[in-house]
Amino acid sequence: MDSTNQKQSDPCIMVIFGATGDLTKRKLFPALYYLRKDGFIPDKFAIIGVGRQELSSEEFKSQIIKDLKGFVGKNTESEIIDWFEERTSYTGGDFDDDKALFSDLKSLLEETAETHSIPKNIFFYMAIPPFLFSNVAAKVVKRGLGTEEEGYWRRFIFEKPFGRDLESAKQLNSELLDLLDERQIYRIDHYLGKETVQNILVFRFGNSIFEPIWNRNYVDHVQITVAEDLGVGTRGGYYNRAGALRDMVPNHIFQLVTLTAMEPPVSFEADAVRNEQAKILRAVKPFSPENVLEETVRGQYGKGIIDGENVRAYREIEDVDETSDTETYAALKLTIDNWRWAGVPFYVRTGKRMPRKHTSIMIQFKKAPFMLFQDTNVQHLRRNRIVLHIQPDEGITLHFGAKIPGPVVQTGPVDMDFDYSDHFGETISTGYERLLFDCMLGDATLFQRADMVESSWRIVSPILDVWNAIPARAFPNYEAGSWGPAEADELLANDQRSWKNDID
Ligand code: BG6
Repeated sequence: MDSTNQKQSDPCIMVIFGATGDLTKRKLFPALYYLRKDGFIPDKFAIIGVGRQELSSEEFKSQIIKDLKGFVGKNTESEIIDWFEERTSYTGGDFDDDKALFSDLKSLLEETAETHSIPKNIFFYMAIPPFLFSNVAAKVVKRGLGTEEEGYWRRFIFEKPFGRDLESAKQLNSELLDLLDERQIYRIDHYLGKETVQNILVFRFGNSIFEPIWNRNYVDHVQITVAEDLGVGTRGGYYNRAGALRDMVPNHIFQLVTLTAMEPPVSFEADAVRNEQAKILRAVKPFSPENVLEETVRGQYGKGIIDGENVRAYREIEDVDETSDTETYAALKLTIDNWRWAGVPFYVRTGKRMPRKHTSIMIQFKKAPFMLFQDTNVQHLRRNRIVLHIQPDEGITLHFGAKIPGPVVQTGPVDMDFDYSDHFGETISTGYERLLFDCMLGDATLFQRADMVESSWRIVSPILDVWNAIPARAFPNYEAGSWGPAEADELLANDQRSWKNDID
């Protein structure tokens, strides 16, 4: 997986559809900046922004460079900014217009390749709404821009969400596969760009002490939490149609589930890793309508207080209907029906407006036998836990019990902590660097394959069906600033377990 052994990407041109959008300024340009700074992008590189707005290249550049300086902050290096200015251009127009925009793009690509002596390697980044994906890709392909000839490559990155449900994801896959080869398609999930997410595989398979206990013989259950203190911001329109389940579960959360649960791949080759991830998705027991009622929970936040600030209810934000039934919280109990995980539930949850940003994977082990402690002051033994902290502080913690010093036998919980920043220093990253670089290298390991996307929707679609058929009761059902609805606690309490909210 260490493609960073290779010093630089191939010379290439990056075309960004949706160049005036949020993602381009907040993530893509800063990620390119850091890649260039660290020497991963060669001089023979250029960026063409494509958007709906009719802007000149100069206008686009001045805006994007201003944003870039804002995001990188006071340490922005002017040499790199100049470098970007020299090789960025823009063309704008109507994406539906088959002629003007796409022939302008073709001419601009030819001109750019010539000016910067760049061979015809091109990757197209679709930072646009999913309903435009195949439409725009078809127009690119129609101009011959998707064809790989004379050893040059053409690649397409698609942002999430990839479909709304199983049917639409299948349709999108089939439309794209009519236009392109699977190896040209990169379905991005920015969670795979996070260092600690990538570290899951190294932690599990690069050490010999964890894997022998990473199974149903030792593990009691697994909890995966992706909590956000933020709300929906200005994305009410998108979010209200999506909801927490679609927005986070078939993509980010399932990446965490599969990397935690998968078998060792035979190599770090893209397909070897993705085959093992795909097997986990296939092994997740499908939800029957009864299971949906018993093993899933949805919630929506009402008003509340976060960090001492009053926060509005979800139904009060812009572009959200005051009777909206969209969930801002989802919790599921997943059953992975395979040899390693039989009988070990994976509880996953995600929510907006929770007390703090916190993403972690907790492996809770079974209890040690108690008989040795029967005649001591010890009331009960705590279970061991390994917590993989994904964000905001990246690290790994092992929780175990130790004897409290003194003449009587008493135990107390203690931790062994590994903190990424202590060991490796602070690394500044948007999470997109590695993914953009991998795409330029042609390494699809950290991207989703068509079958994985469809398997994910196969798990989630039956839940959406039941949730759509039976309107949510009593929304809003959790206060902003709380850990979610009471039903989510009951989900675990029914199994004599509880969510761990205090695992820093
Ligand atoms: C995005 C979702 O994919 O991930 C957002 O659409 C969510 O709703 C975001 O806030 C979370 O990403 P991160 O990297 O901040 O955990």
